[in-house]
Amino acid sequence: MRVYLDNNATTMLDPEAYEAMKPFLTEKYGNPNSLHQFGSETHPALRGALDELYTAINAKDSDDIIITSCATESNNWVIKSTYFDKIATGEKSRIITTAVEHPAIAATCQFLKNFGVKLTILDVNEEGLITPEQLREAMGDDVALVSVMLANNETGMIFPIKELAKIAHEWGAPFHTDAVQALGKIPVNVQDLDVDFLSFSAHKFHGPKGIGGLYIKDSQKLSPLLHGGEHMGGRRSGTLDVAGIVGMARALTMSNKFLDFENSHVRRLRDKLENALLEIDDVSVVGSKDRRVPNTILASIKGVEGEAMLWDLNRAGIAASTGSACASEALESNPIMEAIGADKDLAHTALRLSLSRFNTEEEIDYAIGEIKKAVKRLRAISSTFAH
Ligand SMILES: Cc1ncc(COP(=O)(O)O)c(C=O)c1O
Repeated sequence: MRVYLDNNATTMLDPEAYEAMKPFLTEKYGNPNSLHQFGSETHPALRGALDELYTAINAKDSDDIIITSCATESNNWVIKSTYFDKIATGEKSRIITTAVEHPAIAATCQFLKNFGVKLTILDVNEEGLITPEQLREAMGDDVALVSVMLANNETGMIFPIKELAKIAHEWGAPFHTDAVQALGKIPVNVQDLDVDFLSFSAHKFHGPKGIGGLYIKDSQKLSPLLHGGEHMGGRRSGTLDVAGIVGMARALTMSNKFLDFENSHVRRLRDKLENALLEIDDVSVVGSKDRRVPNTILASIKGVEGEAMLWDLNRAGIAASTGSACASEALESNPIMEAIGADKDLAHTALRLSLSRFNTEEEIDYAIGEIKKAVKRLRAISSTFAH
């Protein structure tokens, strides 16, 4: 049996999204900016997809969404253009973020330190969250941007974004959230959250890879990261990937349609898997279930090296992760586990299991059996586990 439990790394393409994309990969391949009919015949689908997208996150209109190639680009854009627009000009000097952001935020911020950007990185508590009080204490007149993720990619924990954005705004600072792991799993309403910028990526909600977006509230000023042919009103140049945009919009609409299912079926399967893990001695899971997106478990299994567990599971046809996919080729401990205060030994035993609406009960039962077998085998040969 093949069981895919690595949906926070990427997801299967929704069959409806695939069907919607097909004409734009084959006969309707025109460039939407061309004046001839090959170009113009893409316009209705493109307009429809942009409308579908802004409706899905409750933005005010489709001009508030700019298409990018991925969330890494969206995150780089917000951080780097904040530097160009506010910090390099001497207007402000500081960016506030957290210790558990994805590298697309963390590494970009670290890079900008070379150019004099001051960083405040808020530590997280044992659940992997920051509190509104922490942000309130860190704020000041010098803050150019606050960037806090909506849901963490490893723990699945959901940050109190609405409250945090309100605090940033009290100081006149714009607020960005990386919502990559939230869209399609929980309702995301940009007007209710009142964020200025929100990043997303299609391949995390059963859309195609290589396409994402940035919501920009009221089309406020954010200098382009990619200059060129003035696509998307000059805000992000590059020929539009019509198939990708159409696939992304359909995938998000489908995921939103299945939100109740996500909250019942996926949550029930996740909880079943989690309860089975917790029946094993010396296993712990990060964060309370009700404050997590419904699909994610970050467990630590004492005495079981995460990579060894992955290989055992892989042999049994099960895909899981020890942390974010970007770091998984390096034999390193899970940085998020370390950020929440786990010691290095425990951080080496991280196992992330992330489900989707396409997982079945039979798959979860199979995974439970194989995980239990692997724990038994690996603990028997472990030098660090007291038998
Ligand atoms: C929270 C978060 N932000 C950003 C990204 C980067 O997304 P993309 O693959 O679209 O660049 C990821 C991918 O794992 C993520 O989990």
